[in-house]
Order: sequence, then structure tokens, then C-alpha cells
Amino acid sequence: MIVVSITGPSLAQALRQMAQSAPYADMFELRLDLLGGSRALSLIRTRRKPVIATCRRRTEGGRFTGNRAELLAILSQAAQHGAAFVDIDLNAAAIISAFRNAHPGSSIILSYHHLGRGSPNVSGLYKRMSLVDADILKFAYTARDAADMQFAEEFIARASAGKRKAVAVAMGEFGEASRVLYAKLGSWATYAAPMDGAAAAPGQIPAKLLDRLYRARSVNSATKIFGVIGNPLKQSKGIFLHNPLFRFHAVNAVYCRFPVADVAAFMQRCAPLLHGFSVTIPHKQTIMNFLDMLDETAQAIGAVNTVVRKRGKWYGTNTDAAGALDAIEKTQRVRGKRVLVLGAGGAARAIAYEAKRRGADVFIANRTEQKAKRLAREFGLTVIALQNLSEVPFDILANATSVGMVPHVNESPVPTSLLRNKVVFDAVYNPPLTRLLRDAQRVGARIVPGTEMYLNQAALQFELYTGVKPAMSVMRRILARSWETRS
Ligand code: ATR
Repeated sequence: MIVVSITGPSLAQALRQMAQSAPYADMFELRLDLLGGSRALSLIRTRRKPVIATCRRRTEGGRFTGNRAELLAILSQAAQHGAAFVDIDLNAAAIISAFRNAHPGSSIILSYHHLGRGSPNVSGLYKRMSLVDADILKFAYTARDAADMQFAEEFIARASAGKRKAVAVAMGEFGEASRVLYAKLGSWATYAAPMDGAAAAPGQIPAKLLDRLYRARSVNSATKIFGVIGNPLKQSKGIFLHNPLFRFHAVNAVYCRFPVADVAAFMQRCAPLLHGFSVTIPHKQTIMNFLDMLDETAQAIGAVNTVVRKRGKWYGTNTDAAGALDAIEKTQRVRGKRVLVLGAGGAARAIAYEAKRRGADVFIANRTEQKAKRLAREFGLTVIALQNLSEVPFDILANATSVGMVPHVNESPVPTSLLRNKVVFDAVYNPPLTRLLRDAQRVGARIVPGTEMYLNQAALQFELYTGVKPAMSVMRRILARSWETRS
């Protein structure tokens, strides 16, 4: 079930939030403390959906300033107005028996918010909560890393062993996956943000995304979990591509963001839930220490961007290299051609290695020439000084520096005069049409945007995850839909 937390703060806003999120909501939670108390009770009957009445006090992260008697009074009014559930914090559990006696038809969600910095004592907490006469136990805490989802799993596991319904939420950016995977974890419901309004708790996902993008309600015990690890992940587009692709190809899988600070903790406490994951900055090297097998490309490049589980073993590969070269080779085969790679970082390593492997004659130039020299020695490339580029009669230019990336959108790594009649590839994909590519277009060069590399590497990942080769046309259509702006 998806519960949408209605936060207002005005009643007009609350009504709009309910109307907009109704298609994705199974229930509404009315945050009476944010909606001005009893004046919001009229909202309970506006939609034909069950309502949870919640009135959080300041000590529990809410705005209600009344005492316990006043809390009991407002929750009783909510029950009289038809609220199917009331949410009562463990700290206010003293009012439960009075509420039960007066409203035997309403169900009670007993909630506890762990707001302290330290790790929650899940077993102690569960024991305390299980002694209270409540219908559903709800535990929320702030996740400090993706691995902290384990506390939610543990709480739910204890509850199900005790035959109690429970909800566990890892709040904040690091806990995002717990909101998507609630059904897999065995949680009774997940709490979502309305379309138009503030999230009631940090990390809440808009209901529409949970329902339409993640299909969170359809996640079941057979659903395979994939995702991306990195830090930060706010700009990562993987969720907007892989989830619709799973749907299109009828694969029972879901793809989540796992912001990870500590890779070791993630591998130990979170990865066992997953069948595979993408790896992005800053973990592409670190992850290699935790894998059972590396393929030749990943080993040579020294970076992994894709991890899959095969027969219980973690297997690492790198689809960036093939993604870039497949993009270039749609325009021009590289075998026997001169490829000039700019840069000597991770992207340059991947591109230079793969170009060489496919039979190109590879030249490399970098601002810090020493780094280019090291790379050249390792892969058997030719170094060229940046000021001498005009002396290399190259066929294909591949920019693997970050020059031209937002916010420096007016910078190009090379003068336009070098680009005439060449094939020009830019690994930078934000913006999609960089200054380098615009310059190249102006002088008649054939251009290969970095977005093509992005699509190719994602397609290769999808195939590794599912065994299904996705259609590029479908991937393009999905990315053009841009969930970010529509949600
Ligand atoms: P990535 O993993 O994306 O390749 P990286 O390892 O940080 O990122 O490498 C960035 C590359 O862009 C390097 O080759 C860097 O040159 P230096 O080795 O001299 O640092 C290059 N780069 C970044 N900013 C640059 C600039 N303003 N001018 C020229 N090269 C630049």
C-alpha cells in the first residue's frame, strides 16, 4: 500500500494534494499537526480512501504543542470523523487504552521515530513496542548509509516472527531504497510525498514516482533488485531508464538508488538483497576489492561500473569502454584508424584501452603530460603534447577530459581548426551538445555525443542484468520522457 502524507499547510493545498495523488494512493495520512489541527478534520471524508490521522508532537519531529489530553481529544475527533487509523507515538502510548475504549472500530498505528545519531537498538525497541496494544507497529529512523536499511529489515523480521503487522522506514537520502522495496522487506505500507507540497519526512518519494516509475506495489518476493551505488546520486539517471525498461520487457525487477559512503558495509549488509548493480563515482575502483571475479576489460582499465551476481559470486565488468567505442563505431570503424584521446583519467583509460583493443592506432594528450606518459607506457600508446596536436593526422578525436561539462559549457579542449573532416566524440554528456561538438559541426565534422555512450553502456548493463538486449529506440523514447520534470 502507498500512503500519501498530506502536509498542506493550507486546507486548499491539502485538497489539491489529495486530488493529485489520489490515482497513486491507497490511503492518505493527514498530518493534523501541519494542517492546523481540528480544522483539517473535514478532509477525512473528501475522498473514498482510508485515512490515517497523525498528530505529531514537537518531541517526535512534528508541530503539535498540546498535551496528552489534547492529543487524545483530537485523535478521538478524527475517529469520529471516520479516520480508519490513528497514529500514536510510543511516547504517548499512555493514551492508547482510553482511545481503544472510546473507539473500538479504529485501528492504532504505534510509531516510534529514532531521531538520535547513534544506531537504533532494534531488538530492545521491538520488545517495548510489541508489549503495547496496537494494530500496526511503525519504526522510522534516519539512515546514515545505504547499509542502514538493515535496521528496517531486522524490525520487520522481528514483527513477522511475532505475527505483527509492521512498517519500517529508513529516512533521508540514504534510506530511499527502503521506501521503494517496502513490500520486499515485508512492510505493511510505504509513505510517499504528495505531488505538490513538502514531504512529511526526509527522503519521501513522490507517490507518482513510487507507483508509475518503480511500480513499488508490484514488487514481490520474486522481484529481482538492482540499483546504482555512488555518492552523491542525485544526478544519476539510471532509475529513470532501467525501471521503464524492465516494464517494457516484462522483467520482474526494480532499480533503486543506493547512496553509499562505506562500500564494505554495503557489500556486507545490503548487497545480499541485490542481483546486480551499477557503480559510479567515487566507488569504481574501491568496489574491485569486494568482487570475486573481474573480466579482462575491468582488470585492464582498473575500474568497474557494473557488478552482477552469478551463482552466488560477484562478477565485475566495465561497460563504459564498449559503450564509448560502440558509439564511435556507429559512425566510423576504428580498426586501422588514428584515434586521438584527450585526457588521462578514468574515462580516458577506458576509451584508449578499448580503441587499442579494437585495432586503432591510439594517441594520447593530457594537460598533465606525465599522466599521459604513464598511460601510454601501460597500454602501448603514443603520447603527444597538447600544443602539437596539429602534427598528428588523426581520424577520430575522443574527448575524455571534463572540459565543456556544466557549468563550463563554453569551453572546448581543442581549437576548431583541428576538427575539420574528423569524427569527433565527446564523453561529456551534460550538456548533450558540448562546445566541442558545436565547433565540430560548424566545420563539417561528424559528431558522436556522449549521450550515445551513456545509452550504450546502460544497454549493456541491462543485458547483463536481465539477459535481454534492449531496443535503443525504446531507450531513447524513455529518456525523452524525462520523469524529473513531470513528477
Ligand atoms: P574521469 O574519471 O571522468 O576521466 P578524472 O580521472 O578526474 O575524471 O580525469 C579528468 C581528466 O580531465 C584529466 O585528464 C584532467 O587532466 P589532468 O590530468 O591534467 O588533471 C582533465 N581535465 C580536467 N579539467 C581540465 C582542464 N580545465 N583542462 C584540461 N584538462 C582538464
